[in-house]
Amino acid sequence: TEGPLVLGIESSCDETGVAFVRGTTLLADAVASSVQEHARFGGVVPEVASRAHLEAMIPTIERACAEAGSRLADVDAVAVTSGPGLAGALMVGVAAAKAVAWALGKPLYGVNHLCAHVCADVLDHGPLPEPTVALLVSGGHTNLLLVRDIADDVQSLGATVDDAAGEAFDKVARLLGLPYPGGPSIDQAAAQGDPRAIAFPRGLTARKDLERHRFDFSFSGLKTAVVRWVQERERAGEPIPVADVAASFNEAVADVLTRKAIDACLEYGIHDLQIGGGVTANSRLRALAEQRCADAGISLRVPRVRLCTDNGAMVAALGAQVVSRGHAPSSFALPADSSMPV
Ligand code: KG4
Ligand code: ZN
Repeated sequence: TEGPLVLGIESSCDETGVAFVRGTTLLADAVASSVQEHARFGGVVPEVASRAHLEAMIPTIERACAEAGSRLADVDAVAVTSGPGLAGALMVGVAAAKAVAWALGKPLYGVNHLCAHVCADVLDHGPLPEPTVALLVSGGHTNLLLVRDIADDVQSLGATVDDAAGEAFDKVARLLGLPYPGGPSIDQAAAQGDPRAIAFPRGLTARKDLERHRFDFSFSGLKTAVVRWVQERERAGEPIPVADVAASFNEAVADVLTRKAIDACLEYGIHDLQIGGGVTANSRLRALAEQRCADAGISLRVPRVRLCTDNGAMVAALGAQVVSRGHAPSSFALPADSSMPV
């Protein structure tokens, strides 16, 4: 395949990712995760994540090189997530990328983590249709994006006003006594339950909310509704139907996410929807997105789960797009920007 060989480095949260991409071809994708170190805290602890990146970075680079059958010296450009994310965690990746680029005399490209998630899809399905609407749902992010040019023109249509979708899964799982990370646990429990058992609220879908928050999301009211429902049952001394609660909660999240994503496509006259981020692993979200996109005549692109969660592959993929579209490299003074906008 054609194009420059791009090394991608990701360290914005709890995954240390290093990958090699040429064009839209993934050559190697090594990921080390500190997720289990955070499990007993019920969420990612920034200081723990930073230290884990520091320990994992060089071994993960070595693994990626071995997997690709490439030497670092073969690399034509180095791309790294420079934001948004946890500041200390980002700094480890940015410092590593600078070191490699500096030592090799190769250009450095700082890229946006959210845009990288969207770009992961090219590794499975080839060049992105542009414009496309993209829904990004992970433990840290819930964004609806209008992508006119993935390297240059990505507009935020809406985002969560409180918890991220994955965070809501993690919190509700904890409440139900299910293991961390909560998303997979709820997904599994929900398979045994009835999604129509309990009518949980759909955040920011009331007419008055739509005026100001048409494409925004809110999950904290839903979480509170689940807490109240469970507490009332407990007070009455009744058993908690965990599977039904999980299925009904999962349905509420999947319903709002897919509804707003499709409304955005219709509003902007766009026929393509791309979904990414760790929550994309959710079976109900996938099924509902497929069904509703088919009904609305929208073509849906969802990469394999491994490319939806944090990894270096998506960073290298976006780096390759930035390089091939002729953008200037970043300065070696590139900072880590924990709140970088798209
Ligand atoms: O993208 P990701 O690996 O990391 C970032 O947050 O950037 O996403 C992790 C999130 C966690 O909140 C996890 O509970 C959620 O994705 N998740 C799921 C599922 N698998 C992972 N949520 C719902 N259903 C799943 N099957
Ligand atoms: Zn992410």
